Amino acid sequence: MPKARPRYVCQSCGDAFLRWEGQCRSCGAWNSLVETLVRELRPEAARRGGPASIGRSVPEPLGAALDDDLARLPIGIAELDRVLGGGLVPGSVVLIGGEPGVGKSTLLLQAAGTIAAARDARVLYATGEESTGQVRLRGRRLALLDGPAAERVSLVAETDVERICDLARSARPAILVVDSIQTVGLAELEGPPGSVGQVRESALRLVELAKSEGIATILVGHVTKDGSLAGPKTLEHLVDAVLSFEGERFAPLRIVRASKNRFGPSDEVGVFEMRDVGLVEVADPGRAFVGQHEDAAPGSVVVPALEGSRPLLVEVQALVTPGSGGPPRRTASGLDGNRLSLLVAVLGRRAGIGLASHDVYANVAGGLSLAEPAVDLPLALALASSLRDRPVAPDTVAFGEVGLLGELRPVAGFERRIREAARLGFGLVIAPRPAAAPERERLERAAAEVNLRLVAASTLREAVATALGTATVAAAVPIPTVLG
Ligand code: TYD
Ligand code: MG
Repeated sequence: MPKARPRYVCQSCGDAFLRWEGQCRSCGAWNSLVETLVRELRPEAARRGGPASIGRSVPEPLGAALDDDLARLPIGIAELDRVLGGGLVPGSVVLIGGEPGVGKSTLLLQAAGTIAAARDARVLYATGEESTGQVRLRGRRLALLDGPAAERVSLVAETDVERICDLARSARPAILVVDSIQTVGLAELEGPPGSVGQVRESALRLVELAKSEGIATILVGHVTKDGSLAGPKTLEHLVDAVLSFEGERFAPLRIVRASKNRFGPSDEVGVFEMRDVGLVEVADPGRAFVGQHEDAAPGSVVVPALEGSRPLLVEVQALVTPGSGGPPRRTASGLDGNRLSLLVAVLGRRAGIGLASHDVYANVAGGLSLAEPAVDLPLALALASSLRDRPVAPDTVAFGEVGLLGELRPVAGFERRIREAARLGFGLVIAPRPAAAPERERLERAAAEVNLRLVAASTLREAVATALGTATVAAAVPIPTVLG
């Protein structure tokens, strides 16, 4: 039995030290060291630094294998495959994070079902959270018990990582699912499952297994209240791809997106709807992320966001209320809080929209989060619209980056954004005005082609005037109704 000795383990990065210190020397986090009884791992395991040093490395020619040539295993759920970049890569490890109840186990059992059916592949589903009976019940609900999955998907309720690895080595499945990484652990380590050391070591073992046996491995991870993955930050560095599964718990829409992907794009978004028969793909989200209000409401602006290769029309909402004397509130959900503060400042100094003493709330409809700079302009317009209590015409879309001087900067993907807006019945687009005349003409032609009226504004002040000025004129235009 290895000797146990006290160590101080950083709860942020997982590094261990002999003495307590106020700041972690590895990652710089403060007050993150916790005294932990650590049993030394087997020497070869302890020497291992990370996944890079796993196995024997052999030099290979630069021209050997391209990422494109990787034999991918398509899951058969198009929305998920697109996010993964075409399917799972054998030997790769994917971490999928999400809040409890969002539908991670449902998605993965469905994925196990489709991959077993379409590809004749075997799946080992290790559950540390539920009994096999509970998973089977879910399988019945998802109508998997009568299909090929009934044979090819094996369930095991197991929390011991060594045992999971042994089972996988002997069963040799194409895919291993571990639900979840926070509920499994190694017997030789002190500390309960879910503790930093256990999560890190368990993930390392599973990565090693995946690489050495060529098993595509999917780890489920829980997220903490602030939306980050529970466990050490190093967890995200150990795996090949990190997907997040988001959505509002009591609304049906679910979004899966990659925040890291070694084998594919990292900005693709997959959209699902949670129904009573499981998750259903939403191949054409259309107006799914645009609110259902009948009349034009102040504080609402639609942005044709470009999430990955597919444009998504998303409603950005803002509410501005007089402050109560204390420090003004700046609350953003689905949007960057710093960006919100910056836009409030720019609106005040450059566009005559003073919000300094107001409380400001901003939100993205449907539980989506938007990070691209193109969302600056619609957010600023929504703030102005709420303050002035004047709606922006409901057939308007806006996108563009806002600079500190109140200038508008063009963003990529103009054509794709406006084409989607036109397809869904929008009639007016407010966008940054390019400085060069040929570029301006190109955008004008593109807008005319899809019958969209283009207002190209150079400054935020101009854009605000257009958006709030047109509201009264265009409010009479009936809201276009669109299928889907
Ligand atoms: P689950 O996959 O257990 O979530 P997670 O693993 O992320 O914690 O799914 C949780 C919710 O999904 C649960 O409240 C029930 C609901 N659900 C449906 O609405 N339809 C279904 O077909 C299934 C299987 C679950
Ligand atoms: Mg679950």
